[in-house]
Amino acid sequence: MTTDHPSDTTAICFVCLGNICRSPTAEGVFLDLLRKRGCEHRYVVDSAGTGNWHVGSLPDVRSQIEAKRRGLELESRARQFKSADFDRFDYVIAMDRSNLSDLKNLAPSPEHEQKLKLLRDFEPENTQNEARDVPDPYYGGDQGFAEVFDLCTRSCEALLNELEQQPSAG
Ligand code: 4NP
Repeated sequence: MTTDHPSDTTAICFVCLGNICRSPTAEGVFLDLLRKRGCEHRYVVDSAGTGNWHVGSLPDVRSQIEAKRRGLELESRARQFKSADFDRFDYVIAMDRSNLSDLKNLAPSPEHEQKLKLLRDFEPENTQNEARDVPDPYYGGDQGFAEVFDLCTRSCEALLNELEQQPSAG
């Protein structure tokens, strides 16, 4: 299956509902890990939302504050995930099972559907079914944004470890 990025890179899109809280955090955390490990040239990283309410917006101020507290700037602008994005990315990584279900409905073919993963399925020792979602923090308090950052960090570290162990890496 073709993707429109260079063949020596792996393209990843993190997807949530609004693309202003969880997926921009995952994108920022993953980009930071790539920079720290010196392997940003091998990846294309993006994020998107299944909904279109916040298209063009910067991340939610609460996500920006939490990221700044941890030393990161979140600079992405929200956009809506489109069916054609399945051709542009090798991995489409959903933040929760509701996002995953919406994305399955957008997948043009079973082969495209295989690009879909759930972020917390990469988290080490996460075998509890009820803990497979990165909880939506939008209607909650600041603690929810701190939890999102922690979950994204743990899962993105494990995701990158897994990708870097693949034979094509390096
Ligand atoms: P996100 O959070 O999916 O993590 O970006 C949300 C942002 C906005 C809304 C819901 C969730 N909203 O309903 O506007």
